[in-house]
Amino acid sequence: MNILRVRDYASVSEKAKNIVLDRISDFSDTTIALPTGNTPDMMYSLLVKEYQSGKVDFSDVVIFNLDEYVGMDPENPYSYNYYIHNRFLKHVKTERSYVPNGLAEDLDRECEAYEDKIKEEGNLDLALLGIGRNGHIGFNEPGTSFDSLTHVTDLSEDTMEANARFFPRDLDFPEKAITMGLKTIMGAREIILLASGNEKANAIREMILGEVTENLPASILQTHKNCNVIIDGDAASLLGNST
Ligand code: PGA
Repeated sequence: MNILRVRDYASVSEKAKNIVLDRISDFSDTTIALPTGNTPDMMYSLLVKEYQSGKVDFSDVVIFNLDEYVGMDPENPYSYNYYIHNRFLKHVKTERSYVPNGLAEDLDRECEAYEDKIKEEGNLDLALLGIGRNGHIGFNEPGTSFDSLTHVTDLSEDTMEANARFFPRDLDFPEKAITMGLKTIMGAREIILLASGNEKANAIREMILGEVTENLPASILQTHKNCNVIIDGDAASLLGNST
């Protein structure tokens, strides 16, 4: 793991944006997994700005969203489909983009088809990730097998509490999601994980310094050959000088 400590959230976003731009210019036909959530928000704005000023071309880039809530209409502003379109995809021209369909009648089939699609596209070149307070990546909650492929998962209490903060009261918070599995994510040639803020500090410490365990899904990243972790001072606050 390569740990890049930067000052604050804006610097995390800037650094992540620059790495994405580098990879896109280094390779044609890049296939990228993208996260949703608060953390990547500013990175998407910066990427869109670069696009609008003509500095980057995403037309060869294939996008796979990491996850989606089960039972959520893609048009629902709280769905991850809506998020990624609204923040990024509707502003840029990409080759192809995919988001798991949380409304699929046969969810297991949807997961298999998603996994197949990633293979068909030549597997992931780059996976961008956030991290949950409980150490989840995508929606791979504590206890998820390191061998997992794209699957339906029950959301943990902690995740529901963290994410329900942003939901209106009259919308029931989903209890399940489709997520790329840990094996799917680990199959990426390069991984970049972003974290900002004190509430991630414990998960970051465990991910970097703790044992590799399914109880802290992100700890699997210690075994990836090409993983960059971009964190601000608050997220790094429990690391001491060890990294
Ligand atoms: P956040 O979510 O960026 O909204 O903190 C990250 C995650 O839960 O993976």
